[in-house]
Amino acid sequence: MNIEFNSKNMTFNIKTENSSYVLGVLKNKYLINLYYGKKIESFHDGDIMDSLPTICCAGFSANDIGDDECEISTNDIPCEYPTYGSADFGTPAFHAVYGNGSAITKFEYVSHNIFSGKKPLKGLPSSYAEAEAEAQTLEITLKDSGTGILAVLSYTVFEGADALCRNVKIVNGGSEAVDIKSALSQSAYLFDKNFEFVHLSGAWCRERHIEKMPLTRATISVDSKRVSSSHFHSPFMALARPNATEDEGEVYGFSLCYSGNFIAQAEVNTYDVVRINMGINPFGFNWKLEAGEEFQTPEVISVYSAKGFGEMSRCYHKFYRKHLCRGVWRDKERPVLINNWEATYFDFNEEKILNIAKKAKEAGIELMVLDDGWFGKRDSDNCSLGDWVCDRNKLPDGLESLAQKVEAMGMKFGLWFEPEMVSPDSDLYRAHPDWCIHSGNRKCSLGRRQLVLDLSRKDVRDYVVKAVCDILKSAPVSYVKWDMNRNITEIGSAELPAEKQQELPHRYMLGLYDILERITSAFPDVLFEGCSGGGGRFDAGMLPYFPQYWTSDDSDAVERMYIQYGTSMVMPSITMGAHVSAVPNHQINRTTPLKTRGDIAMAGQFGYELDLATLSEEEFEEVKSQVKKYKEIREIVHKGDMYRLKSPFEGNNCAWLFVSEDKAEAVLTFATIKATPNDGKTIVKLCGLNGGAIYTNVENGKTYSGDYLMNAGISFKHNVDFKTEMISLKIKK
Ligand code: DGJ
Repeated sequence: MNIEFNSKNMTFNIKTENSSYVLGVLKNKYLINLYYGKKIESFHDGDIMDSLPTICCAGFSANDIGDDECEISTNDIPCEYPTYGSADFGTPAFHAVYGNGSAITKFEYVSHNIFSGKKPLKGLPSSYAEAEAEAQTLEITLKDSGTGILAVLSYTVFEGADALCRNVKIVNGGSEAVDIKSALSQSAYLFDKNFEFVHLSGAWCRERHIEKMPLTRATISVDSKRVSSSHFHSPFMALARPNATEDEGEVYGFSLCYSGNFIAQAEVNTYDVVRINMGINPFGFNWKLEAGEEFQTPEVISVYSAKGFGEMSRCYHKFYRKHLCRGVWRDKERPVLINNWEATYFDFNEEKILNIAKKAKEAGIELMVLDDGWFGKRDSDNCSLGDWVCDRNKLPDGLESLAQKVEAMGMKFGLWFEPEMVSPDSDLYRAHPDWCIHSGNRKCSLGRRQLVLDLSRKDVRDYVVKAVCDILKSAPVSYVKWDMNRNITEIGSAELPAEKQQELPHRYMLGLYDILERITSAFPDVLFEGCSGGGGRFDAGMLPYFPQYWTSDDSDAVERMYIQYGTSMVMPSITMGAHVSAVPNHQINRTTPLKTRGDIAMAGQFGYELDLATLSEEEFEEVKSQVKKYKEIREIVHKGDMYRLKSPFEGNNCAWLFVSEDKAEAVLTFATIKATPNDGKTIVKLCGLNGGAIYTNVENGKTYSGDYLMNAGISFKHNVDFKTEMISLKIKK
C-alpha cells in the first residue's frame, strides 16, 4: 500500500497490493485519469499527454486554452470528475445549476494532501481502518473558479488489501445557494472497450442472478429509483474481459456503499474509452447546497483482479469482513438459528413458540427468532406496523417472559421488527397521518398494505429509535431481524419546502442510516440481521449495521444455488442468511431432499425456517447431524476463502469450496440440478489448497494430495435430481 506523488509531472500513483490507479494534473489544471489496472511500481516521469488514450484536437473538440494552442479539450481527455459546460459531452459526474441560471462547472486542480488513516463519511456508512497505519488517503481539491464550488476527491488504500475506496465531498465555497442535479461518487476509465458489463439482477425470490453483456459504443447502466437498492438491481457492476473466468482474465469490480437510488453505468465514447460512473442516481435527485455547506457522496469500493472473478470476489469478501462489517459480531461465531415465520406465519402463541424452541434446542440450535406478528393486533399483514407493543392475546406473559423462558432452555432469543413502516390501520398512523411519505392530497399507493415512514423527519426518527430501544430494553433480546417490505411511491414529505422535495430520496437514506447508527450503537451486543422481503436491500451500505442479511425469501435449495452463487460475487458468506425450510417449498412448491437443503444452506449463516416437530424421527436425526456438521465447519465457511467451481448459470451443476486461511481444512459442496441419465461424471478441480500436503476426506478417510485435488480433481455422478454431496478435507497430521 502506498500513494506516490511525482511533482515532476504532477502524477499520483495510488497502489493497492496488486493494482495501480494513476491520476495526473494537466498544465491547464484538469485532473485526469491515466491508468487503472495491474500494479505499476513507478509510473513514468515524462509528459503525461503521451499517456492519453485519445488524440487531441480531434474535430469538434472545443478547447479553452486559446485558438493557437488548441491542444487540450475536455472532449479528448478522461476527466477524473467530469462536469457539464465545456467540451465534454459525456455523462457528467457533477452537474449543478447556479444562482444566475448557469449550469456550467469547470473543475481545476487546486491542491492535494496525503495522510495516514481514513476519515469517516459524515452521515453515511463507509469502510474504516482500525489503526491509522492500516490505511493511507489522498485528497485532491478541485475548484470551479466561476462559482467557488469545490470538489474534494478522496482515495483510500489499505494495508494488505486490494480495494480502492473513493468518495467525493462537494463544498459550496461560493456566496450563493446551488442546486446540485448530480454528484456521483466516481468516474473511472478503461482505455479500450473489450469488456463485458456484468451485473446482478433479480426480483423478489430471485435475487442477484448474474447477467453479462458486451460493451459497445453506447451507454449501459443499471439503476434504482425505488429509494432502496432493491431486489431488482444491485449497486454493483464489474467490467470483465470477455474471456475472463473464475481464475483468469482481467475483472474490475465497483461496489457502491449506499442503499438508496443508485446508478452504475459504463459509457463508451467514440474513441472506445469507457467511462465508469457510479453513485446516487441523478434521476429524481436535487440538492440545494447553501453557501458554506457540504454534500457528501457515498463511497465506491473498487477491486481490480488480474485473476478472474474468483479473485475479485475473494478481495471483496476479505475487505468487507474486515473493513466494512464492524462491532462485536464482526469476528464472533454466529449462532445457528430457527425462525418461526414459515412454521406459523401469524398464527402462533407462546406455547407454539416454546415448542419450536424446545425441539430446536434438542437439535443443537442456538437462537430462537420470533418473526412478524408479535405486536399490536397483527394477525395478518394488514395492520399494526408502527405500534411496537407486545400483543398480549398471543403472548399473555409478554415478551420478557417469553425471552426468559427461551433463555432458560439454553438458547438466545431474537425478534423481528419492520421499523421503517406504518400500517394505515395503526394507532401510530391515526395519531400522525402526516408522518408517512406522501405528496399533498395525492392518494398513496399501498405496498403490502403499508406505508413508509418519513425518515427525513427528526420527530419520526426519534419515535422509531425510542420504540425499538424500549422493546430491546424490556426483554433479553440478543438478535434483531430488521425487515423492510415495500419500496417508496408518491414521494413527498409534509415537512420539506417545495424546493427541497426532491431531496427526500437521499434524506430518507440519511435518516435510515441515522436511526441504524443510534440503535445498533445503543445495543452493541445484539446481533442485527438485515432483511427486505428477503435480499431486497442486501448491499454494501447495510453491512456496517447488519453483519448478516436474509439473502432471499426463497429458501428452495435449487433457487438458492443461483441466489447464493450470484450474491457471492461481492458479499462474503458470513453475511448471507441461509435456512433450511419445509417441503414442498412455500415459494415455488418444489420438493428437494433435506440433505440438499442443508448442504446449500451451510454455505451461509445457517438456520431453520420450519417446525421441527413436523419432521419424522429420521429427518429430525438428520437435522441434528446437520447442526453438528455446521458447527464443525462454520469457521471455515465464514472466514475461509471461497472458490466458485461450477456455475449453475452455465450448466447443470453448482459447486463451491471454502478453504481455511491456513489451507489446512476445506469444505466442498457439489450439487446436481437435473439428473442426466447415462452420462459421464463431472470432474471438479479444487483450488487454493496446499499442493504438497496430503488431505484426508473426513467422512470416509480417503487421502489425496493437494496437487491431485487441484489438478486431477474429484469426479461426481449426476444421475439424481437435486442431489448434493459435501466433502470435508483436512490436512493429515
Ligand atoms: C419478509 C421477510 O423476508 C420474511 O422472512 C418474513 O420476515 C416476513 N417479511 C414477515 O412479514
